[in-house]
Amino acid sequence: MTDLSETLRPYQQRIDQILETTFSNRNENLEPLYAAMRYVALGSGKRMRPLLVYSTADALQLDLGLVDASAVAIELIHAYSLVHDDLPAMDDDDLRRGRPSCHKAYDEATAILVGDALQALAFETLSKNALAPNKESALTADIKLQLIETLASASGANGMVGGQIMDLAGVGKTLEIDQLSSMHQHKTGQLIQACITMPAICAPHLTDNERYTLHSLGETIGLAFQIRDDILDQISDTATLGKPQGSDSNKGKSTYVSLLGLDQAKKRCQELHTKALDQLSQCQLSASSLRLLVDFIVSRNR
Ligand code: IPE
Ligand code: IPE
Ligand code: MG
Ligand code: MG
Ligand code: MG
Repeated sequence: MTDLSETLRPYQQRIDQILETTFSNRNENLEPLYAAMRYVALGSGKRMRPLLVYSTADALQLDLGLVDASAVAIELIHAYSLVHDDLPAMDDDDLRRGRPSCHKAYDEATAILVGDALQALAFETLSKNALAPNKESALTADIKLQLIETLASASGANGMVGGQIMDLAGVGKTLEIDQLSSMHQHKTGQLIQACITMPAICAPHLTDNERYTLHSLGETIGLAFQIRDDILDQISDTATLGKPQGSDSNKGKSTYVSLLGLDQAKKRCQELHTKALDQLSQCQLSASSLRLLVDFIVSRNR
């Protein structure tokens, strides 16, 4: 499957509707900042992380209202990470989601501050759980704290930010395969893993064993997602990707393709796909939309 199927369309609509209402500015002097935040967060991304959150919640038979705040918060952190990732001091890419990157559409200072603001908004959203429309979808303070801790850990120095610094330090070097997989797990994998572990936190009935299997599934697909991203940088084209094809090789980035070659990178991705399907079946959940996403992650063309 290379496109997201009809089954996932309602989740896509749900997250887009919520994102539309997330940026409520009460101070007109701040409108330029809010405009830039909306530009970034409402652009044509795949919304794969929120789709994973909702699909996991569905598999766990949770009310989707329980995970709306998690879905939004993860997507906001992801959007912030893209804005900073494209900055001249990082990947220096001028195109994102088919239009000028934030620092090109606005300027570098705005892009830095947009990232900061999106990150803060993610945690504000999670802590308030302001999205909960009724009592049944309100989370306890204890669960909210666990969600905040999980997202902070996945996005900070021991998560995405740590991975980004490994990525920059790896430019022009030949990393060991373990270093490369650690970098991918940090910069991309952990946030994707959180899309599965955060709904699991909202499901107190799960056994430790079930929680562990979901955690492992998240790890597998998080790594597979970034390997596919490395592959697409080589085999796709700028129009399809909506970001500059060949960016990694032009900048001497360490990727699965640069280290192993295209065929071995594809093989690794397939192995992780098989592993993920196996882990999914161990979960013994009726998880049809999660299964679609596992397939999508390794076969997507953008
Ligand atoms: C791109 O993520 C950045 C990586 C972590 C590889 P996505 O491919 O999910 O980007 P969008 O959200 O669809 O633009
Ligand atoms: C990005 O990795 C990881 C992030 C935390 C944003 P890449 O640098 O490969 O992502 P793209 O290809 O620019 O989307
Ligand atoms: Mg990067
Ligand atoms: Mg990049
Ligand atoms: Mg990339």
